[in-house]
Amino acid sequence: MSVQREDVTELPGMEPPVLGPTGRPITDFALPPILKSHGPARIVALCNQKGGVGKTTTTINLGATLAEYGRKVLAVDFDPQGALTAGLGVPAHDVLTIYDLLLGTTKDAHEAVHHTATPGLDVVPANIDLSAAEVHLVNEVAREQILARVLRTVSADYDVILIDCQPSLGLLTVNALTAAHGVLIPLELEYFALRGVALLVETIEKVRDRLNPAIELDGIVATMYDPRTLHSREVLERVVEAFGDQVLETVIGRTVKFPDASVAAAPITTFAPEHSAAESYRQLARELIARGAVA
Ligand SMILES: Nc1ncnc2c1ncn2[C@@H]1O[C@H](COP(=O)(O)OP(=O)(O)O)[C@@H](O)[C@H]1O
Ligand SMILES: [Mg+2]
Repeated sequence: MSVQREDVTELPGMEPPVLGPTGRPITDFALPPILKSHGPARIVALCNQKGGVGKTTTTINLGATLAEYGRKVLAVDFDPQGALTAGLGVPAHDVLTIYDLLLGTTKDAHEAVHHTATPGLDVVPANIDLSAAEVHLVNEVAREQILARVLRTVSADYDVILIDCQPSLGLLTVNALTAAHGVLIPLELEYFALRGVALLVETIEKVRDRLNPAIELDGIVATMYDPRTLHSREVLERVVEAFGDQVLETVIGRTVKFPDASVAAAPITTFAPEHSAAESYRQLARELIARGAVA
């Protein structure tokens, strides 16, 4: 995936730096320090109103790799499709879900938390019931702050809470952005990738102005990169031109291992622990820890 570029300053006697797919020199992100205690969580929303860009895949695999590094992680399924729940092998029916927590049927979010087969990675499931939530919540007082209130009851137990958003900018996503300290935007490297990102950034700015002044853009993570195609490389170049250092150095390659792992209901770190796809999510975890987006 690396290329050598001639326009990088060369000091005499030094090899030119090896550049990564974003055109920046490759950083060897340090192994994260071991945490002596856990919590309170930093809450990160994975948002993009486009479907199929890698939000759920990134939530699962970033969650699993952060857990490998000893972080206590809670992944919240915030999409009525329930792909996160299924992808982590957690039941979605006849259990309490995020919907019950939003509606206040049960007050303590711990009751909806499930352990997964990955030690350190827990999940709050969702199912199609969640699609009714917007209608139910629209007349609530402080309707944008309901998820934030729900997550406060579990925040102390985790280092990071990842919210897997649905592909829309509606009330549920606004709840996720209001609850979050940071936003991570997965961006599929295809021609129309940039369409819609401006609207998403505008939405984040509105939420910052009106509801959550502290919210930060933690980064844009390019997904489904195929270094063999000119198209993929060109789109990545345009994304970097548009967003600069907000584009994370870690780029997730396109591989069938990801859909295969979802079928197996396992993170890539369990399904194919030695595959470069697992390594790329380990690197993403290290990069986010190095940037301070995660403890
Ligand atoms: N890096 C990747 N390479 C190949 N397929 C991927 C990759 N990331 C995700 N996928 C597949 O693309 C589809 C959409 O990904 P998903 O994470 O569900 O997107 P979203 O949650 O944004 O809708 C899924 O079938 C998933 O397995
Ligand atoms: Mg999804």
